[in-house]
Amino acid sequence: MIDIASGHPAIDRYLSKNYEQVRGMSSRFAAAICGHLIRRQSELGIGGELVEIGTFEGRFFIAMALGLAPGEKALGIDRFDWPNAGVETRFLANCAAHGIASERFVSWKADSREITSDALRNKLGQRPVRFVHIDSHHSRECLTNDLELVHPLLHLDGIICLDDMLHPGYPMMASAVFDYFARHPEMRLVCVIDREDIVAAPKFLICRNDMFARTQQDLLNAFARFHFILNADMETYFALVLTPHPRLAEVE
Ligand SMILES: C[S@@+](CC[C@H](N)C(=O)[O-])C[C@H]1O[C@@H](n2cnc3c(N)ncnc32)[C@H](O)[C@@H]1O
Repeated sequence: MIDIASGHPAIDRYLSKNYEQVRGMSSRFAAAICGHLIRRQSELGIGGELVEIGTFEGRFFIAMALGLAPGEKALGIDRFDWPNAGVETRFLANCAAHGIASERFVSWKADSREITSDALRNKLGQRPVRFVHIDSHHSRECLTNDLELVHPLLHLDGIICLDDMLHPGYPMMASAVFDYFARHPEMRLVCVIDREDIVAAPKFLICRNDMFARTQQDLLNAFARFHFILNADMETYFALVLTPHPRLAEVE
């Protein structure tokens, strides 16, 4: 097991003892890095709600929700129809079993393509979203929908995390992200979190230009030993790359 922690005691207890027992797909490596960012947001006074589109049985949702500050809520959106109808019951049971009290989260059974930003805003009690994890249908069309759905609600210092970027099975999803950057030039790819496995593939972290340098420096301070020093070439800037086993190809 990779020795990595978020620095948030409740998140780290869950990551070390229970994370892999909750059925799901996101890597523990990525959950620790995202938990760290949620903890740092709280320390910096960045408040708001957490949203996950595609909660499945709650593996990643619980890690994020454990990082909530008092008075904040996590919203989990899922169709809850795959692989069978019992998935929402298992999601709710997992939240209860791992310390997410019912008043701290909302479960919303819906297809994200049938939700409007206004409906989402109402569900969030008009509060901004400080951290979003998008992990729903792995298509260009659905990712485009989900990015535009959350974009107007994002806290100015908020972070969007995208699952299964650069996954061999979903090469077209990356183009939805680059089209999003063309429509929203104030947003940037701040970090690529590398894969652990074919079923725990890379994540992209996105933030506004103003938060870019600060977020990268913070991630470097915390996770220098996971830094791939060549970074990710975005043509006009470099995104940070964090990988479980950093190394360069041997050329001699
Ligand atoms: C890969 S699983 C999510 C895994 C989970 N985030 C984790 O880290 O363990 C994808 C989930 O997205 C849900 N889903 C797919 N398309 C959706 C949509 N358009 N709206 C809401 N949920 C969707 C599926 O029902 C499924 O539970």
